[in-house]
Amino acid sequence: MGPEEFRQAAHELVDWVADYRLKVADLPVRSDVAPGEVIAALPAVPPEAPEPLDALIEDLDRVIVPGLTHTQHPRNFAWFPSNASLSSVLGDIVAAGIGALGITWQSAPALTELEQVVCDWARQLCGLSEAWSGTIYDGASTASLVALLVAREKVTNGSQRRGGLQAEDYPLTAYCSTEAHSAVTKAALLAGYGAENLRLVPPRRPGREMDVAALASSMADDAAAGRRPAAVVATAGTTATTAFDPLAEVCEIAGHYGAFVHVDAAMAGSAMLLPECRELFAGIEAADSLSWNPHKWLGSVLETSLFYVRQPELLVSVMSTNPSFLRSSLDGSVVQYRDWGLPLGRRFRALKLWALLRLEGAEAIRGRMRRDLANAQRFASVVGQETGWTVLAPVKLQTVCVRHTPGEMSGEALDKHTLAWCEAVNSSGLAHLTPALLDGRWMVRVSVGAEATEWADLEALWALMQLKVKAVL
Ligand SMILES: Cc1ncc(COP(=O)(O)O)c(C=O)c1O
Repeated sequence: MGPEEFRQAAHELVDWVADYRLKVADLPVRSDVAPGEVIAALPAVPPEAPEPLDALIEDLDRVIVPGLTHTQHPRNFAWFPSNASLSSVLGDIVAAGIGALGITWQSAPALTELEQVVCDWARQLCGLSEAWSGTIYDGASTASLVALLVAREKVTNGSQRRGGLQAEDYPLTAYCSTEAHSAVTKAALLAGYGAENLRLVPPRRPGREMDVAALASSMADDAAAGRRPAAVVATAGTTATTAFDPLAEVCEIAGHYGAFVHVDAAMAGSAMLLPECRELFAGIEAADSLSWNPHKWLGSVLETSLFYVRQPELLVSVMSTNPSFLRSSLDGSVVQYRDWGLPLGRRFRALKLWALLRLEGAEAIRGRMRRDLANAQRFASVVGQETGWTVLAPVKLQTVCVRHTPGEMSGEALDKHTLAWCEAVNSSGLAHLTPALLDGRWMVRVSVGAEATEWADLEALWALMQLKVKAVL
């Protein structure tokens, strides 16, 4: 395809995307395709001859759109906001169109330096000190893995350059709350700590922040038994209930053992843009690394996960490789992001966050998030006042955790009821919610914050929830 043919096709496709966004509110939120239906609807063999763009667009409408749960739908309250603001989409189009290859600073100086600028803009918007240097990863899961690798190497003084963890005299231990994301457990296992050396510290109350007294005693027990406390992953905004681990206390306790502290603020990090929310992150400056995802609530297209460290040289010492074909005379004087993470070849990820910040402006983004915070509070208050309904956790940001209890119902019967009304809401296609376990019992999360969600959408959701609860009883 040449540039002129591309121009015409791209105009048509951009029209298609704009039309999709215009009609998304009228589509069923959750896809109801059966497993295998998308595969069955597509040819089993690839085309030998070129097909017209119209054929591709036809399949987008016929197969792809029905096979989507519509994240950008105004009544999508599932999981977490995963906003792909159209301003950010523009940046992503440019990134793909330019096709830059980020393998060294020299291979695309603007790719590296725009990433430095954008990470620093985001740092400033979050009110973080100049001590932090950032990069953009694909996701917070990668950030947790890298943080635990760096912690491992820091505490063992570079075991990977000797016999690795297998040759260490003492096991390293890592800590996170039971409420931490499953990605933290995955990262600890992948980083070689071993399940037996990962401590899941209980929360103060079910669904709440980490019990720091339990953390302190767990670390003390491990140290006394000859194990080496190496890393704590604190969560700022847990996935189920948006609880915030007390960062100042966590960092102080970890500091006694020289353990590395990583803060996982994947969803909630966007709230640092709001000065009135920064208290929730108090103590963050004492941590060693921090990750948050502008591709969640903020509105940058997916795979914009910011990872900040206080000691980039430590990161580089763990990640750096230096094959002859990547060397240049500038080595040592420029940032080589390949040494800040796992992949060598990187996309021009900064463009989508850059475009979002420039074309929206921080004030409008803050305004949207404040709307969501107010809507979540109002929703919690409406639900909490209704007989039989309970709001189960403090609404720290935009997630409201609810349960409906008919009469004296409890235990497994209550679980069955919760899952039934939630599924009835979801299968209606009119809204989408996520059930989750809280203290071993099912509840339903209402995650407010899709870019298009207004109060009227929450009113519609509330009416639907009440209707479906009656229908399943
Ligand atoms: C607290 C927390 N950590 C980590 C993750 C995983 O993030 P990612 O999908 O960017 O790997 C999530 C996603 O919901 C999360 O809420």
